[in-house]
Amino acid sequence: MAIQVVSSLEHNALRIRAARSADAVIQKLNALSLPWPANWAEIFGAERPLILEIGFGTGVFLRHLVRQHPEANVIGLEISNQCLLKAERMIAREGLNNLRVIHSRAETALYHLFEPSTLSEVVINFPDPWFKRDHGHRRLMQRDTLDAIVSRMQAGAMLYLATDIVEYAEMSSELLAATPQLMNRLPGQWADMLPGRVVTKYEAKARAEGRDCMYFVYQRNAIPAPVIPVIKELAMPHIVFQSPLSPDEIRAAFRPFDAHEGDIYVGFGEVYRGRNGLLFEIHAAEPTIDQHAALLLTPHGHTANEYTIQLSTIGHPRPTQGIHIAVNALHQWIAGLSEATTVIQKKLAE
Ligand SMILES: C[S@@+](CC[C@H](N)C(=O)[O-])C[C@H]1O[C@@H](n2cnc3c(N)ncnc32)[C@H](O)[C@@H]1O
Repeated sequence: MAIQVVSSLEHNALRIRAARSADAVIQKLNALSLPWPANWAEIFGAERPLILEIGFGTGVFLRHLVRQHPEANVIGLEISNQCLLKAERMIAREGLNNLRVIHSRAETALYHLFEPSTLSEVVINFPDPWFKRDHGHRRLMQRDTLDAIVSRMQAGAMLYLATDIVEYAEMSSELLAATPQLMNRLPGQWADMLPGRVVTKYEAKARAEGRDCMYFVYQRNAIPAPVIPVIKELAMPHIVFQSPLSPDEIRAAFRPFDAHEGDIYVGFGEVYRGRNGLLFEIHAAEPTIDQHAALLLTPHGHTANEYTIQLSTIGHPRPTQGIHIAVNALHQWIAGLSEATTVIQKKLAE
């Protein structure tokens, strides 16, 4: 018994050591910290055609893509940390130099990381497993996201989609048929089987539970795509203003509030008193990116009652349109507390 305990402890220690060494080799990549657009040749150490898999899950299909395309660089996108860790270990263990995985929502990567006409293949296996037609706004296959995918594909690039939900297949079929930049490469609107495909974990589960799978194969033609430039980060926003109120008075008046501008939403959560001013917790939700960050209100220089509002470096947020809206909204709210508030200087996107 004692021997068994020791050996299982040793086994665990070995597993942890192996996992740590794998983690040490593979640098974690995140859409929120990579340059916009990303420099793929630098990340891979070589310029090669780019293949993208969205929502790779266990990574079975990523490995298949790497084996099928040794001439390409393969990029996997996931939002699940567990899936990312598993794939990072697989990359380190198997020395897959032409595979990298990125912690990112598909939308964030498509709009911020990839330049137009750069992808040679896009694979989407079993997205949105809880799909219901009336929950349309959060699904991957929708006009805006498909336009972004099409814009990032080169002429001749392939798009593969698989689903086990008949309604999802019907909705995707309508969407794809209404995309003049894509040509259906199958005799019917979808196929029940694709020769040479590896079976993913979700696909095996769907089949075991008796659901049919539907596969789409489309190819990008040379018709120009909607113009969707890479969304880059903006300059750091700030406002310098004068207010008769002290930081403690501003803090005492604070209640959580929201601000909206177009399709951008900013929520203000809590305010904290620091040594040198106030820290406001914010959530900036934009169609392509979601950031939890903080704004700082600090005394400006040594002049009494002059303050600066700027972005805190906590969490390394990116200065996007939503962050600019947040800085402006905080200033507007403070200005609403006292008519004697005046702006001295500001750097904000229009
Ligand atoms: C149903 S699973 C399919 C996984 C895998 N492709 C397979 O066939 O086994 C969907 C996967 O997509 C990921 N996912 C969901 N929404 C995503 C998004 N917006 N961007 C990137 N990945 C996403 C989930 O974390 C999950 O791993």
